[in-house]
Amino acid sequence: LETGCLSIIVLGASGDLAKKKTFPALFNLYRQGFLQSSGVHIFGYARTKISDDELRARIRGYLVHGKGGPPHTHSEDVSKFLQLIKYVSGSYDAEDRFRLLDKEISKHEISKNIQEGSSQRLFYLALPPLVYPTVCKMIRRFCMNKYNHGGWTRIVVEKPFGKDLESAEKLSTQLGDLFDESQLYRIDHYLGKELVQNLLVLRFANRFFLPLWNRDNIDNIQIVFREDFGTEGRGGYFDEYGIIRDIFQNHLLQVLCLVAMEKPVSLRPEHIRDEKVKVLQSVLPIKSEEVVLGQYEGYRDDPTVPDSSNTPTFATVVLRIDNERWEGVPFILKAGKALNSRKAEIRVQFKDVPGDIFRCKRQGRNEFVIRLQPSEAMYMKLTVKQPGLEMSTILSELDLSYGQRYQGVTIPEAYERLILDTIRGDQQHFVRRDELKAAWEIFTPLLHRIDDGELKPLPYKPGSRGPVEADVLLSKAGYRQTHGYVWISPSL
Ligand code: BG6
Repeated sequence: LETGCLSIIVLGASGDLAKKKTFPALFNLYRQGFLQSSGVHIFGYARTKISDDELRARIRGYLVHGKGGPPHTHSEDVSKFLQLIKYVSGSYDAEDRFRLLDKEISKHEISKNIQEGSSQRLFYLALPPLVYPTVCKMIRRFCMNKYNHGGWTRIVVEKPFGKDLESAEKLSTQLGDLFDESQLYRIDHYLGKELVQNLLVLRFANRFFLPLWNRDNIDNIQIVFREDFGTEGRGGYFDEYGIIRDIFQNHLLQVLCLVAMEKPVSLRPEHIRDEKVKVLQSVLPIKSEEVVLGQYEGYRDDPTVPDSSNTPTFATVVLRIDNERWEGVPFILKAGKALNSRKAEIRVQFKDVPGDIFRCKRQGRNEFVIRLQPSEAMYMKLTVKQPGLEMSTILSELDLSYGQRYQGVTIPEAYERLILDTIRGDQQHFVRRDELKAAWEIFTPLLHRIDDGELKPLPYKPGSRGPVEADVLLSKAGYRQTHGYVWISPSL
């Protein structure tokens, strides 16, 4: 990391996101030596009137024991880390409190003899988007970095960025009037996951995939997110948004971009993001017969969810990319809460082998599966001769399971990686404004039809695969289920 005086300011410091994600990620970076220079300081800002120590006590329990290092060094680390944190309370539109926050940051910068380095200020907005414009105005007016020896001010924002195309554009304009695009970091934490970050390497650094990755060879692609729990405790938030705004418009579309995009000119963030935007702009309007919505039974029992809620907690949507590489290949996006398993994966299914002399079609097609979580892995399902005297075929796999192949390697949390990127000034894994707009353009018409009650979710049992209609749509789109194939865990 560059030397200088780095202040990380977490706004919404006493909230859920800050406690569960932001502070633990900062702590893990600290433990790995990234935030240990004497120039680093962390500030919390929120409305709750508490002391520095009270904030520290609230956070302490969430700083989980990272792998590596005995427990006693862990608790020493925790205490040292917590000492870096100072707290300022105030409402999100209080000029005097933002002035005070600025004074605290400046005090720290002056004590570190800022002339020798530079003033770097990272504002992390762990807040509801409703207050982004007000808070950003306050930062712009009172809290910008003071010294220009290579210093900077950066703003990290969390989704949801709006509720549809219009509201997202409005928010973008409001923030864009205050900050330059190079200062804005829109987080989508899926972009920080190990196997999502691996997608470009896999696709463009392997001769295997180059000639196969297109409509001539691939029959269909699924991008799937499943959770085996409901909206527990977040019903109020969730009901406002629903599964499409919560998972599809951001996480699944980002993965789709990386799976479908053309090779960028270089690895420069702008080149990569240019290609992602092109994919999004090539997506055709969604057809209602290619959508299945679901809502799990019991969802409306949550006291924060209205009894008449029409919000989907499950959806399967087929997207079609109208370009030379992908015309005719369905991208089947699926996500749901309260299903039978917790998993996120990309499943690329290839076409049948022409001239099937082994008559093995029924056993199943070649598939390349990338499991993002849990237990990161990628494997290729392929047909081999069944070992033994008979000449028969069987579906088997080439498997790269990370737990086995990279023993002892700790895979960093998405947030850790992304916060480090913001400090380094690398926007590659952040969503650019035009990308956000193109993503909302895809889903806004569908969302409006759901909001208007024109499309209704089908009920499904918690702990199931979701509505059966979703499986019907999947096979209509061309996905062929494998018969008789059993995955054998490599650890056995
Ligand atoms: C969040 C969604 O963005 O991602 C949550 O708001 C969801 O509803 C979460 O549970 C899933 O993240 P992960 O990293 O656990 O897959």
